[in-house]
Amino acid sequence: MAKETLTITDNRSGKTYEIPIEHGAIRATDLRQIRVSEDDFGLLSYDPAFMNTASCKSTITFIDGDKGILRYRGYPIEQLAERSTFLETAYLILHGELPTRPQLEEWVYHITHHTMIHEHIKKFMDGFHYDAHPMGILVGTVGALSTFYPDAKNILDPANRQYQIYRLIAKMPTLAAFAYRHSLGMPYAYPDNDLSYGGNFLNMLFKATELKYKPDPVLEKALDVLFILHVDHEQNCSANAMRSVGSSHVDPYSAVAAAATALYGPLHGGANAAVLRMLGEIGSKEKVPEFLKKVKAREALLMGFGHRVYKSYDPRAKIIRQTAEQVFSVTGRNPLLDIALELERIALEDDFFVKRRLYPNVDFYSGIIYQAMGFPVDIYPVLFAIGRTPGWLAQWQEMLLDPDQKIARPRQLYIGSGHRDYVPLEKRR
Ligand code: SDX
Repeated sequence: MAKETLTITDNRSGKTYEIPIEHGAIRATDLRQIRVSEDDFGLLSYDPAFMNTASCKSTITFIDGDKGILRYRGYPIEQLAERSTFLETAYLILHGELPTRPQLEEWVYHITHHTMIHEHIKKFMDGFHYDAHPMGILVGTVGALSTFYPDAKNILDPANRQYQIYRLIAKMPTLAAFAYRHSLGMPYAYPDNDLSYGGNFLNMLFKATELKYKPDPVLEKALDVLFILHVDHEQNCSANAMRSVGSSHVDPYSAVAAAATALYGPLHGGANAAVLRMLGEIGSKEKVPEFLKKVKAREALLMGFGHRVYKSYDPRAKIIRQTAEQVFSVTGRNPLLDIALELERIALEDDFFVKRRLYPNVDFYSGIIYQAMGFPVDIYPVLFAIGRTPGWLAQWQEMLLDPDQKIARPRQLYIGSGHRDYVPLEKRR
């Protein structure tokens, strides 16, 4: 029986070391024994952007990038998108199991009854310019929520964590909707507890003078599916931020603000908006070949394409494409879809993309649906953040409960100047 170990010979010293392999990995700290002298710190592993480094063990989400597989707690994303709801999926991702009916009813009750935000939040919401980016508002306001719930610092108390988890999942749509209404100069529309999570979000966004907002069931379902698709994605940039910032034992509101800030970037959650702008700039199917020439000349990125893990079609993009047709049956077809489909058709046959295994990711089609549903482009990363909040919280909680984990503090390879003495100003050249 082959041993689950790695034998390393350090040719600098001729010494040989045997290092255990577990889950297809070695512990980087096992390299520290490899030294060439007593005062040698020991061997480090160098992995900028963590291209080949596992930061944790996790039971939350499984991705197979080559096969295009995504499972939340073992359940395929295709089945959850078709048969579950966002709140049920949020329960699954946080608790590890699908809820029983009583568990689901209690979960939905608590989240439904925590959607209100402190009236003072409106005061600093009003302080933003009318054209303030909604992600900037979200990052600011969710971080500020920590000041309204000082008890949230008791992160090691399970009951307290559960309470903050209810609050954060419940209040993200309210903050997002208030930011949107502020940008339009419209009065805030308060939560309606008779509506579903997605239906209430549409209510807070689009309610006008009617006494009771009635969400379109097709759009309500489509939004719920989109939220399900965004719930978690293992150790992506924003989940890593959530874990790293959370490892200092800060409260979860501050950690979510950090995660949302990471998501804001155009290479991550900001890509869905960047895709819409890209499609708008291309303008027509006929201009797609000209744009792809710019991409291949490295003058532009094909936003919504490529992924660190998926080297095949992102399963979420497939589901979003199917959802698009349902939305268009209500909203009318978004002509940008034709440009996106032409981009995909040509790119998937072009060697530049095939060789680099670049396929549509979750952001390639989502913005087209959001635009058809009436969302302004800038709010798309906020929609991503609403869907991803349960995933961030699940990653955060798993980190807190993992005996292997402690405050995140990477090492570095120092290649700067050696010791040198201070030079007085008059002597500098
Ligand atoms: C999300 O991690 C997650 O799980 C994220 C996410 C989640 O659910 O949390 O899935 C959500 O963030 C999806 C990704 C959204 N971002 C975009 O669509 C922006 C465009 N994509 C690229 O920026 C890029 O593909 C990344 C950032 C997504 C991935 O970058 P990597 O893994 O670092 O890959 P890379 O930059 O090393 O690219 C490898 C090669 C390079 O060419 P060479 O230098 O080898 O010749 O592919 C090229 C890149 O130039 N390339 C692209 C490209 N993506 C990669 N070329 C043109 N257009 C692109 N989109």
